[in-house]
Amino acid sequence: MSDVNPILSGSAQSIAAYQDAIEQSTRAVVEWLKQPEMYQGKTVEQLRERINLDFTSQGLGNQAAIERAVEYFLKDSLLVHHAQCVAHLHCPSLVISQAAEVLINATNQSMDSWDQSPSATIIEIKLIEWLREQVGYTAGDAGVFTSGGTQSNLMGLMLARDAFFARQGHSIQQNGLTGDLSKIKVFCSESAHFSVQKNMALMGLGYRSVTQVKTDAFSRMDLADLKAKLAQAKANGEQVMAIVATAGTTDAGAIDPLADIAALAAEHQIWMHVDAAWGGALLLSEKYRDFLNGLELADSVTLDFHKQFFQTISCGAFLLKDARHYELMRYQAAYLNSEFDEEAGVPNLVSKSLQTTRRFDALKLWMGLEALGKKQYAEIIDNGVTLARDVAAFVKTQPHLELVMEPQLASVLFRFRPESDDMAFVALLNQRIGDVLLASGSANVGVTESDGITCLKLTLLNPTVCLEDVKVLLGSVKDTAEQLLKA
Ligand SMILES: Cc1ncc(COP(=O)(O)O)c(C=O)c1O
Repeated sequence: MSDVNPILSGSAQSIAAYQDAIEQSTRAVVEWLKQPEMYQGKTVEQLRERINLDFTSQGLGNQAAIERAVEYFLKDSLLVHHAQCVAHLHCPSLVISQAAEVLINATNQSMDSWDQSPSATIIEIKLIEWLREQVGYTAGDAGVFTSGGTQSNLMGLMLARDAFFARQGHSIQQNGLTGDLSKIKVFCSESAHFSVQKNMALMGLGYRSVTQVKTDAFSRMDLADLKAKLAQAKANGEQVMAIVATAGTTDAGAIDPLADIAALAAEHQIWMHVDAAWGGALLLSEKYRDFLNGLELADSVTLDFHKQFFQTISCGAFLLKDARHYELMRYQAAYLNSEFDEEAGVPNLVSKSLQTTRRFDALKLWMGLEALGKKQYAEIIDNGVTLARDVAAFVKTQPHLELVMEPQLASVLFRFRPESDDMAFVALLNQRIGDVLLASGSANVGVTESDGITCLKLTLLNPTVCLEDVKVLLGSVKDTAEQLLKA
């Protein structure tokens, strides 16, 4: 072993190495932040060609390893804070979130057991209590931080499935899936996130278990179709183990009629999970909080803080209305969450999580809320929703732009419309506009579909972006379209 100890510790040598490495990295980040281009525009092939691993037997040392990361990773990274970077639910991060990452990473606490994360465990529990209060749940601490929306949705679906079987006297945890599985269904809207499908496949029930309910003109779950499909399921001898409502669909930002869905779910004794990965940000909103009315009626909720809460990836949460359902995934590992601990009231969060080793991502939300305060946090969330409305109004005034749908959260769906009714051509043109803009490094615009036809999407999370920035971007969309049409 080399005489330089590579481990972070309290020795003078390690502390000096840590400070050097962090300072070198921070300096590089500062330079990168100042880059004017959103992206350097390299292609997949160029990056494959350029990036080579260099694992030597002696090692390069920290300084050279950081220099290589700067050259091959940082310089060709996308500037997510750039005003023209608006493709996805991919937020620029809070400065305080960066500071929290320093603390999270250096302390490397693991959230599975209290003896690996004493203060962190208590902070996470208190945040879960606070989040429950925001949702309108009863006081309690049933919930946990997760890696994001996909995992939170998995927890909701898994507990819904296990509760459904438990009502029939069957323990999935002990005995696995049983019976005619083709009869078991989950309902969600056509615009629900694909993680519903993926999670159902993962849970052994397959894509076939997902019944997609039609959506209205605003991508919201259509209640009449939900009722009809529930009746049809009953007639077919099918059993619905959960209805997944979405509060903030990925493209349109649509919020399903939560209270009405909850009433139907209660009538049919079906678990209701709400995927509020995006719309959950409105919990903090001063202007739009009422969009989430009915969320408190859900049996479980997905929240995601690496979307419109502006936290670094990853940071999400799962909330469970009735703590007793946690029994369905109870597992006691002698080395982590023993009965002795339980009797002594020691909280070991592995009992509430699908993960074992887990990051202390909750710190980011805690520090974010403390640093910004609820009012400023609300302002940066509301900004995106308001901006989307202003952008939509502007799009409507532009001759070659077509607004696909009025915005609901912070996204705008639109198309460049040449003088052609050939929708296959229109779709291809819009796809190419997105590709050309990214390849030029100037903008990242979302390319998606609405009613099966390709359109463009602006996801306006970034609170530093204003209408003028978006007008510049829409100008680039037009210029690119005209160049493509000429070629
Ligand atoms: C509505 C919705 N739910 C769930 C997810 C998945 O979240 P994550 O990417 O954090 O797993 C997304 C991702 O964009 C989403 O838009």
